[in-house]
Amino acid sequence: MDIKAIKTKPFIDQKTGTSGLRKKVSVFRQSGYIENFVQSIFDCLEGFEGKTLIIGGDGRFYNEKAIQTIIKMAIANQFGRIIVGQNGILSTPAASHLINKHEAFGGLILSASHNPGGSDGDFGIKFNNASGGSAPESLMQKITERTKVIDRYWMVDTPDIDLSKIGTQTIGTMIIEVIDSVDDYAEYMQEIFDFDLLKNYFKKGIKFVFDAMNAVTGPYAKRIFEKMLGAKEGCVIHDTPMPDFGGLHPEPNLVYAKHLVDMAYSENGPDFAAASDGDGDRYMILGHNFFVNPSDSLAILADYLEEIPYYKGRLYGVARSMPTSTALDAVATAKGLPLYATPTGWKYFGSLLDNKKIALCGEESFGAGSLHLNEKDGIWAVLAWLSILAKTGKTVEQVVQEHWQKYGRVYCSTHNYEALESDDANAVMHHLTEQTKTLAGQQFGDLTVEQAGLFTYTDPTTNIAEELPVVEINFSGGSRIIVRLSGTGSSGATMRVYYNKTMTDTAHLNDDVQETLADLIAAFNQISDIKRFTGREVATVIT
Ligand code: G1P
Ligand code: ZN
Repeated sequence: MDIKAIKTKPFIDQKTGTSGLRKKVSVFRQSGYIENFVQSIFDCLEGFEGKTLIIGGDGRFYNEKAIQTIIKMAIANQFGRIIVGQNGILSTPAASHLINKHEAFGGLILSASHNPGGSDGDFGIKFNNASGGSAPESLMQKITERTKVIDRYWMVDTPDIDLSKIGTQTIGTMIIEVIDSVDDYAEYMQEIFDFDLLKNYFKKGIKFVFDAMNAVTGPYAKRIFEKMLGAKEGCVIHDTPMPDFGGLHPEPNLVYAKHLVDMAYSENGPDFAAASDGDGDRYMILGHNFFVNPSDSLAILADYLEEIPYYKGRLYGVARSMPTSTALDAVATAKGLPLYATPTGWKYFGSLLDNKKIALCGEESFGAGSLHLNEKDGIWAVLAWLSILAKTGKTVEQVVQEHWQKYGRVYCSTHNYEALESDDANAVMHHLTEQTKTLAGQQFGDLTVEQAGLFTYTDPTTNIAEELPVVEINFSGGSRIIVRLSGTGSSGATMRVYYNKTMTDTAHLNDDVQETLADLIAAFNQISDIKRFTGREVATVIT
């Protein structure tokens, strides 16, 4: 078979972020764009000849086309074996698991996570290394540098692989295995969770709905919840991965999964409702008439995790991203667990997981994971919640209310200002950073600033300190405001403002969230002067 070096010229904008390369589909469709990026990845890796590469994506528009290109390039670059999900489908956690299971060199995951799909939507390519997790920042930078000078990529001229047929094919010396997308992941979940306990729980007739949002988790949820655990057929809704996610924005939160929220808050609504995002790493949990904030969910998972057999005696530490509410801290203190507050981005958790410092981690942005694999994992989180409910016999709301009674409640909310002009967003960040220098001791209504400034993270394994462009304003009594710019958007800028207020008075555990946070929101408006810089009075998406 003919391996050809095809001449190419650099594109100017192949800069990678923490979640790989994420851009509009129209950008990816430019001739040679994917080839340049994938070859740049391969050019920065060493020692993959003859090794295994896992390939799969969330089924969004351009998934299969990209996979066919990548397979041919992997052949030309001399990988030894490719394992690809049937029809190109693999959720991010399933791909991560396959990397570990097959001791693969790494994997290429095609997804733009929770960003919209379709021909006008977003696409993305992410490289995960042998740990199963995202490639480290240093490698991503190297790849970006490589994209700037690349002048050729390697390609073979061979017909497209039939991805619909499960089985092994050989092309030259390359072995290509098309595998069932769900089998291995489902088996792994069975090793982690007590499926008999969960089967009995479903037998009791619990009303359960899982919304796959027309994205990747449909086949996983149908197999695990309906077939293996005996949940009622049809309880998995929007269960077929579609190129445009059927027009849904596959981001499980109160705004984009409103249809599910409405269902949970209806008269005969489900006892337990859950959803996952485009590529299956995020999750949302609802009870009947009840929403579980992801920060509370993480704290509750920490409290109960050792009830799940796989974790018995293994909960050696926990982590949350720094903007995630401090609800987890109270559990860590009560259990005497080391707690790490990391910058946003899974790679920080990845390093803690790799170094066995933590067994559980999560984010306010509807993501959580554990030592079971080096990515966040939506279906895993839902199974963990089901295990808590099955074990305690309590409802979702009871579990959360009891948690608040025991540890107090940290009211929290994220206000997202989307589609800002980049210059305006930077101006607000600059202004805020300047303001923080003189904030200590200042009074905003009943709130007194204790400390303010940029967030510094010290890596516990290397002891290297890093100052991040994240503004934190801490008030006495445990209230705080955190402001940062999103790193995952595909156009313009998104500013995220995170609010926390701790309440231990048991008479105030069920107040309105936004009203409770109103004085903090007012303080942010005053300190940031956001209206002057951006013209915005309110956030676009509040979660
Ligand atoms: C967002 C979330 C962050 C998450 C990331 C990838 O990043 O806020 O918690 O790790 O997506 O799913 P951001 O857009 O805020 O940079
Ligand atoms: Zn995702």
